[in-house]
Amino acid sequence: MRDPAHGGSGEAGATWALIVAAGSGERLGIDRPKAFAALGGRPLLAESLDRLDRSEVVDAIVVAAPPGWEEPTILLAEELVASKVVACVTGGASRAESVALALAEVPDEALVVIVHDAARPLLEDAVLERLLVPLGEGFDGAVPVLPVADTLKRVDGVVVTETVDREGLVAAQTPQAFLASTFRRAVAGHLADATDCASLVERAGGRVAVVDGDARLLKVTTPGDLALAEALLAAS
Ligand code: C5P
Repeated sequence: MRDPAHGGSGEAGATWALIVAAGSGERLGIDRPKAFAALGGRPLLAESLDRLDRSEVVDAIVVAAPPGWEEPTILLAEELVASKVVACVTGGASRAESVALALAEVPDEALVVIVHDAARPLLEDAVLERLLVPLGEGFDGAVPVLPVADTLKRVDGVVVTETVDREGLVAAQTPQAFLASTFRRAVAGHLADATDCASLVERAGGRVAVVDGDARLLKVTTPGDLALAEALLAAS
């Protein structure tokens, strides 16, 4: 791994990717953290790590590893020859805390920070390229989104209390990209109950644009999701 303070050639580059992989993934029902669930014969984390490392968009990578799994995470990066990985930190108690801990490794000179969930393995380079466009047009951040296909209901237990108007609603995915300076200010604020990074930037008054997401970027939560990701991977 490169020294985060100095980078490989004296500069680590402008665009940093943070991979948050510290979740326990209880709903998968396996004996290890979700990032180390098997997908296509290697750990789930390998897929996004490999793809971000190979992307021309990304200059350097920080991984937030599950507590106690730092060593296997570093070994995985070495096995993949993921030479852009400059640091592996121990993740925090929430996703937002894991993001903050990884962000602490990003040097002041960084211009763009991209945050990605290890739980979304099937990352295409085209999504990364789409995200950078709004950042060059004056936006503080960009998120990939998909239309919401189902009718949305608000419920109280088993009782429907409201049918939510779907107009103007989209589902947000990762990776999400931000101007580094804005993102730092947003993460320095109140982190509790943030389920994604864009919400922190929105809360701090930042302007976030949407770009087309990718249905293959599904988030692996249940064994069924893992089977679907496996099938999509095999078909690609
Ligand atoms: O739990 P969930 O799948 O929604 O988490 C989204 C992403 O955030 C996952 O990649 C997970 O590893 C990561 N995460 C984390 N630290 C936590 C909780 C989740 O890095 N404490």
